[in-house]
Amino acid sequence: MNEAIEVAGALLSGLIEAMPEPVLVVSDTVRLVAANAPAWALFPHLRPQAPLTTSLRAVDLHDAIARVLHTGQAENISWLDRVPVERLFQIHVAAFHAQEARFVALTLHDATESRRLEQTRVDFVANASHELRTPLASLLGFIETLQGPARNDFEARERFLGIMLEQARRMARLVDDLLSLSRIEQTLHLRPRAAVDLAGLARHVRDALAPLAQDNRLVLEIDTEPALVRGDRDELVRVAENLIENAIKYSAPERGEEARRVWIRVAPRGAFGVLEVHDEGPGIAPENIPRLTERFYRVDVGQSRAKGGTGLGLALVKHILARHRGRLEISSEPGRGATFSAMAPLYEP
Ligand SMILES: Nc1ncnc2c1ncn2[C@@H]1O[C@H](COP(=O)(O)OP(=O)(O)OP(=O)(O)O)[C@@H](O)[C@H]1O
Ligand SMILES: [Mg+2]
Repeated sequence: MNEAIEVAGALLSGLIEAMPEPVLVVSDTVRLVAANAPAWALFPHLRPQAPLTTSLRAVDLHDAIARVLHTGQAENISWLDRVPVERLFQIHVAAFHAQEARFVALTLHDATESRRLEQTRVDFVANASHELRTPLASLLGFIETLQGPARNDFEARERFLGIMLEQARRMARLVDDLLSLSRIEQTLHLRPRAAVDLAGLARHVRDALAPLAQDNRLVLEIDTEPALVRGDRDELVRVAENLIENAIKYSAPERGEEARRVWIRVAPRGAFGVLEVHDEGPGIAPENIPRLTERFYRVDVGQSRAKGGTGLGLALVKHILARHRGRLEISSEPGRGATFSAMAPLYEP
């Protein structure tokens, strides 16, 4: 008999030790009988044989244990642990009999990440719908006006058609950006392999955006050193376009102020080729910097929208660079401009 108990005890601790998630076993007086390594790591204050209530403050959990002991029916409960960081656990509470005694096994599953992903997905759908609804509502409004009150007003019709074209373009761009984002996300694990001349690419994008810069009274200065990176040219063009276009949009001088400059620099740095875009605009407050690459995040939604922005540009940049095994660095001193550095690994034949 004693031998059987020993074997059973060894089996129990061996079995829970083999489980990847935290597992605790308590007696019918809710004293800790056994716990595996993930459980000890999670609750360093646990004491063997001590009542669970003293080391784990979770009223819902203790209520559930009491119910399960009473009814014998297993339960699932959620438990939000706030210290040291907020984590959500799903706990499976189940009773079992062994050697005439009753025990309760608690199996914890960390649901923090899946809850975060779910929340991100919900926010994303809400944001995308909202961004599409605004131009769509405006298009519908103008169509109705053109069918009704403005039917014979030639001048109004021209003006409205102009606005409608702009709104429709905005919707098309939004859909394009969303599709690009999802395409890049799907191929995130596939590293691009072509050799791309980052300096030539930057000069090309600079030339393409020079007229826009001029309209905004900005001068695009460029300084390049040879840097051959491993990448996908079209995607890296989008990175350069987004960063330079942002510099133009957000650092343009006000009426009456003198023209400003945007500095574009390409150079190798360590194992990376770096494309740096520096502007002399208002810069970005430190608390906003980590959020800029979130989808739809804009410091000033009104300002961005007025310039046709949807807040997807930097999210795309970040994803593209991640696929390249590179990264985006952002630094800014508010009032003294911002610097965005896109880094992609140098090409090694
Ligand atoms: N050079 C910059 N100076 C100041 N703020 C910037 C700069 N670049 C980006 N930002 C801020 O970051 C936000 C996010 O930029 P992002 O490129 O992702 O979106 P957007 O430019 O608003 O829209 P889109 O790129 O889709 O046209 C911008 O709305 C702006 O508030
Ligand atoms: Mg942008």
